[in-house]
Amino acid sequence: MMNKLKSNLIFLIVTVLLFASCGVVKSDLVVNNQIEVELLREPYLQNSFADSISVLWKTNVGKTSMVKYGKTKELSNTSLGTIEKDSNSVRHTVTLKGLERGEKYFYAIYSDDELLAFGDDYYFRVEPLDKKSKFSFYAMGDIGEPVEKGGFPQITSFQINSLKEKPNFGIGLGDIIYPKGESLFADEYLFKPMESILKNIPFYPALGNHDWGVAPDLNFEKEWKLPNNEHYYSFDYGNSHFIALDTRNGELFDVENQVKWFENNLIQAQGKYDWIFVYFHHNGKTCTYKKDEKAVISLYPLFAKYNVDVVLNGHAHTYERLHPYDSGGNVIEKYRANTETYPEISNGFIQITTGAGGKLQKNWLPQPEECGKNIVAAVAHTGHFSLITIEGKKLQLQVISSIGGMLLDSFTMNKN
Ligand SMILES: [Fe+2]
Repeated sequence: MMNKLKSNLIFLIVTVLLFASCGVVKSDLVVNNQIEVELLREPYLQNSFADSISVLWKTNVGKTSMVKYGKTKELSNTSLGTIEKDSNSVRHTVTLKGLERGEKYFYAIYSDDELLAFGDDYYFRVEPLDKKSKFSFYAMGDIGEPVEKGGFPQITSFQINSLKEKPNFGIGLGDIIYPKGESLFADEYLFKPMESILKNIPFYPALGNHDWGVAPDLNFEKEWKLPNNEHYYSFDYGNSHFIALDTRNGELFDVENQVKWFENNLIQAQGKYDWIFVYFHHNGKTCTYKKDEKAVISLYPLFAKYNVDVVLNGHAHTYERLHPYDSGGNVIEKYRANTETYPEISNGFIQITTGAGGKLQKNWLPQPEECGKNIVAAVAHTGHFSLITIEGKKLQLQVISSIGGMLLDSFTMNKN
């Protein structure tokens, strides 16, 4: 009897212990099931025009998006945003409006009330109201090549980050993510190496042939928030107008609509701006290792007729600046003599290949004199970006080496 009582007691104790221990395990699982919000992509800035800006980032999980911001680190303003869920990530977009023109703001990002990023480098600058204000932008092409394949986007980014005066925004000249523009590699090949500048300098890329290696609506368009249809779009900054085109594989994307849109956009811009810039991926006439692209050459008459000042492209992984062209793509002879200082070029434009932002063409050197076209004003063959500074009617272009920050080329154009 005693033995039976004893064994029942032991059974009871074991059962209670087991039950209690199951409870602990269960509650542990609940805790573990609440996956902590993790920042998968540092914030980046889009659509910083007039008094507005969008801040984007990516997390593993999360239901809400919030940005706190202010002219001091007190961050006295708050804006809520929206999320888009992917299979294994959450994309956050918060658009801030009613910002004070010309001011610098600090910001912090939150998902599900968790502070994810904040500090000295997390800031943006609002477009100044005064159209005469000086501003600058960087241009780089052919960027997202991984380091193990010889890519160096992090070095170019470091150099941009080291500039005494940070550019107000950047433009991307296509081939943003090698080899096929896949979102799968966007973080490793592009956002991570460029994160130090993407968090405080808005960036507006155009598509290149490699970005068309996969469906852009499932890749490029998901990564960016750009104006219009994101393939061809325009925006204003200060006294200047910027137009991005999509040259796809050398055949323009949505060609009829795009060209019609482009011409109409240029017509609307006439007389309203001091400077008009057009940027896209493919070169027109060139003395690089790339062929002349007919689709780009077919746009020359529009550039010349509608007062486009500078055309920027990538594609060839090098730097090549051409002499000013007329509508037929012929060098305007009077500008050959002085390639450092230009007056206003009427019925003509300057096309520049600035295509070694993250990738340099190996086993090749520029030989413009061998090319037989007599079109080249300047070359440089090293990793680089272009920095364009606008001050009223004065433009300065500087080409800066990714390694060491040396000046590789420069010119000014003065419309006064
Ligand atoms: Fe390309």
